[in-house]
Amino acid sequence: MNQKQARKRVEELRDLIDRANKAYYDEARPFISDKEFDEALKELNALEKKFDLASPDSPTRRVGGTPSESFPDVEHPVPMLSLDNTYNEDELREFDRRVRQILGQQNYTYSAELKFDGAAIRLRYEDGELVLGATRGDGYRGDDITQNIKTIRDIPLTLNGDNKNNGISPVVEIRGEAYMEKEAFLRLNEFREEQGLSPFANPRNSTAGTLKMQDPREVARRPIRFFAFDLLLNSAEGPSTHIEKMNFLEKLGLPVSPYLSAHKDIEEVIETIHKWEKIRHDLPYETDGVVVKVNEEAFRPELGNTSKAPRWAIAYKFEAEQAPTLLSSITLQVGRLGKITPVAELKPVQLAGTTVKRASLHNEDEIHRKDIRTGDTVMVEKAGEIIPQVISVVNPDRKNRSEPFKMPKNCPACNEKLEKLQGEVDWRCVNTECPPQVRERIIHFASRDAMDIEGLGEAVVDQLVENNLIQTYIDLYSLTTDQLIPLERMAEKSARNLVGAIEKSKAQPLDRLIYALGIRFVGKTVARDLTQDFQSIDPILNASNQDLVEIDSIGPKIAESVVKFFSHEKNRKLIEKFRDLGFRLETDKPVKFSNVLEGKKFVLTGSLPSLTRKEASELIEQHGGKTTSSVSKNTDYVLAGESAGSKYEKAEKLGIPILDESSFMEMIKG
Ligand code: IVH
Repeated sequence: MNQKQARKRVEELRDLIDRANKAYYDEARPFISDKEFDEALKELNALEKKFDLASPDSPTRRVGGTPSESFPDVEHPVPMLSLDNTYNEDELREFDRRVRQILGQQNYTYSAELKFDGAAIRLRYEDGELVLGATRGDGYRGDDITQNIKTIRDIPLTLNGDNKNNGISPVVEIRGEAYMEKEAFLRLNEFREEQGLSPFANPRNSTAGTLKMQDPREVARRPIRFFAFDLLLNSAEGPSTHIEKMNFLEKLGLPVSPYLSAHKDIEEVIETIHKWEKIRHDLPYETDGVVVKVNEEAFRPELGNTSKAPRWAIAYKFEAEQAPTLLSSITLQVGRLGKITPVAELKPVQLAGTTVKRASLHNEDEIHRKDIRTGDTVMVEKAGEIIPQVISVVNPDRKNRSEPFKMPKNCPACNEKLEKLQGEVDWRCVNTECPPQVRERIIHFASRDAMDIEGLGEAVVDQLVENNLIQTYIDLYSLTTDQLIPLERMAEKSARNLVGAIEKSKAQPLDRLIYALGIRFVGKTVARDLTQDFQSIDPILNASNQDLVEIDSIGPKIAESVVKFFSHEKNRKLIEKFRDLGFRLETDKPVKFSNVLEGKKFVLTGSLPSLTRKEASELIEQHGGKTTSSVSKNTDYVLAGESAGSKYEKAEKLGIPILDESSFMEMIKG
């Protein structure tokens, strides 16, 4: 792999991981398994190291979702990290070897506890009173959801003990997991279905969703439970092992994991894991694994953290649950870009605490590879609570099976002839007016990272499409309150709000609009890069493949897709309509402070002490310079921070001046 290929792959992986994180944490609608996620992250990490592509905004430096906008956000004084995952005994032994390497001859032991599948929260008690409850958010900032947290009965409002601070600091920081028992989760879903609301996919999603509800009374009605798994100590006093900390927390009145034990070495931990693996299905709550921690508090700082997870703890994930069931038929789903996905309709089966009725079959080739046919008994798997998958046919050699699956020639929704491009596995419906595509396109257009139109969720879009009120996203901008009010569950006020929100979206910046158009392969990063490079929509409309591949994040496939999109007369007209409606089709020119860097090309590497990469390149632009991504003889300066890698070396070799942050700041002062 060369540098350019690596950069592309890194972009792809970052985009995938960002989307997966968002789907998991913000939308509670995961689309890849934990294992696939971990593999992508591992690959990204390796590429960033090998090709010096680290960047402070990479998902390898972050955990989890983004704080939601409706709650005040709070900073976590100590970041809420995630855990690395392992899937087998050998990976656990490997973890133990790493610990041993750092701790050398010192004696350490392990704690093991069941990992509950819910949402991490942070509690802060001051002088024994609960003063703050927050979500994890992106690990550094989360939502202040104190009012909601106060409704959880497992969480005491006041800590036990005469001396309110119990001999430790008057400020007590506790971390733990909010979760929902399986039974309560099922009841909640039954209730939702009765109300015509869509059910939650699993207890974790319903917990995360509940914690972020605006009405604490509604939260109180939902049976959220809690157990604590960490206490931050800010003095040398107090408990000295994890187990002692948990006992101490119990004394303060907080529930801790009921399956918690101390072990002399990793082999003993492994034995315990196998014991728990057997009983886990009988427990009233979902557990997806076991968390193993170095028990002695004193070793934690020595072991330290990576940017994402502590080195003193690891999660062992249980095998995904599988169950056999009957495949009653194969149906086809039409996606936003016309992709046809075959779906297995199943005889409902209980799996990992939920009822599974459907599972993705991915594509035609996959069905043939596994030789899946209607009427088969198939093995269904739910890995990490994700969309269920059909793994295999249980008895493929039995007689009288139905015919092998045949992909229909026409779209199941609009009857257009299906197409498959060379080298691709998916069939597509190319009719842009095909109703399910219209629906998905509009949902994408209105989504948070695109035009961010509040109140235009799936249910409303469905109604708009069904009632023929919209065919393309342009139609949104001529909707009137009179047209909306007759729709179900739409009051005058919500209709007016929606029209207002649609109007407001006209002011969104150009990169959001480009992303919202839903051009194949054009994600947020590409949309941003396109906008930054071309500054306005017109040169993009007329750009050639050649012009486009000049941009770092764009390869031939993306370039072709962009050119193809804008070569359609229909799409060009669409842009003209956006123009007539008063959309912002140009970027705001950077405010110029000076010309001291006029014509100078900079390359950034490593992390700077106070500026982020974005801030640094903005400053460079504001003073007339330009930032490029790789060092060459045309580079004027390299601005280097901590852990700068091969770019630094290259600059030295080529004799290019290397600046640190403070000399750079001096330079632009003039
Ligand atoms: S310890 C610094 N212990 O799993 C990391 N986490 O996949 C502290 N979780 O964010 C985490 N049960 O939400 C820990 N017994 C347990 C846990 C646990 C569930 C969750 C927690 C964490 C996530 C990481």
